[in-house]
Parts: sequence; C-alpha cells; structure tokens
Amino acid sequence: MPARLFDFIGGADGPWRVDRIGAVTGDGLPAVARLRVAEAGGGAGIGEPGAAWQLRGITSNERYVERPEKQLLLAKQPALGRAEARCAALIPIRKNAAWWAMTQDERRAIFEAQSRHIAIGLDYLPAVARRLHHCRDLETPQPFDFLTWFEYAPADAEAFEALVAALRASPEWAFVDREVDLRLSRDA
Ligand code: HEM
Repeated sequence: MPARLFDFIGGADGPWRVDRIGAVTGDGLPAVARLRVAEAGGGAGIGEPGAAWQLRGITSNERYVERPEKQLLLAKQPALGRAEARCAALIPIRKNAAWWAMTQDERRAIFEAQSRHIAIGLDYLPAVARRLHHCRDLETPQPFDFLTWFEYAPADAEAFEALVAALRASPEWAFVDREVDLRLSRDA
C-alpha cells in the first residue's frame, strides 16, 4: 500500500531549498529556507528543531477525471523523484464556500468544460510530475483544501510558469480564495 498521508514541513532543514515563497491570494505563509516532504508518522514533524510550519494532505481517488482523460494521463504522466527534476513547486490552495456548495457535476463543468484544467495540464506532460493532496477530509481542520506538488527539470521552469498562468486565468480560479506559491530547488 503506497503512502497516502504527507507532511510538508517548512523550516531550516530539508532537501528542498525555498527559492521563493509568496501569497497569490489571501494570507501567505511565513518565509522559510528549506522544505521537507515526509510521510506522516515517519518521525518528522512540527516538533523538529527549526520547523516553522507544517501542512498535511492525503492522496485520494480522482473526482473529475473521465475515462478518455485517464487514458491520456496514464500514458503521459511521469513519476515523482526523477533525478533531472531538480525544481519543484508547492502550491497550497483553498476554494471558497460557493465552490463547495455546488454539486459534483456543476464543479466538473467549471473545472473542465469551462476551464480545460486537464486539457491544459496534459500539454505539460511528461515534463511535469505531480501529486495532488486533499486536506478537507482530515480529522484536524487544515488551512488549505489542497496541497499541489510538482517536480520538473530546470529547463522546463519557464513552461511551468506558463502552465500556472494559464490555470490562474481560467474560470476555476475565481473560486480560489487562498493560494500560496513556493518554488523550490535541490542539488543534483
Ligand atoms: C502538470 C499539469 C497538470 C495536470 C496534468 C493536472 C491534472 C489534474 C487533474 C487530472 C485533476 C483532477 C483530479 C480528480 O479527478 O480529482 C487536477 C486537480 C487539481 N489540480 Fe491540476 N493538473 C496540472 C497542473 C496543476 C497546477 C499547476 C495547479 C496549481 C497551480 C493545479 C491545481 C489543481 C487543484 C487545486 C486540483 C483540485 C481541484 C478540485 O478538486 O477542486 N494543477 N489536476
């Protein structure tokens, strides 16, 4: 059974150097020098010396993907942890009450028919590897609804910026009421 519950720990330690951290919408997060991604319960945590904050999320089943999209994603999406992927982004996101008040089919219409989230994202595979963590279903209330995590090679950093810009310009993002953007890098 692969690990599902992950902690993102910002502080003085960790393999990822924080190159920039900024609020896109709503409150930001305190600046930190390093980030560690840890399987929850693995001993790392807020008690660690130098840890400034800790965000927790859990991987889950897909909610929106339809079969033809799933086939395309499976054919193109790379795994995390590629040696050449020395850049990463952690983008924690919260959506507003209007989003969560909608039905699943209403959300899917905005997510894909109007915003083309999957169609746009597919253009950036296999350059970008990703993992989506959900936060709403955890027992302890979390400050974000999603922790989105991406890994890519330095040569694809510009393309990643274009991807983020395209998604932020889409109707889906009108429902985002808190978003923080962290860009990270690690040594070879
Ligand atoms: C690398 C290209 C990308 C691909 C292929 C991609 C694909 C997807 C897919 C398939 C889902 C739906 C999963 C489901 O069915 O539940 C999803 C959800 C999501 N993605 Fe992306 N994505 C990409 C990039 C991004 C980026 C750059 C961001 C943030 C700036 C982002 C933020 C999100 C969020 C917040 C969700 C959850 C939406 C919700 O459940 O309301 N994605 N993505």
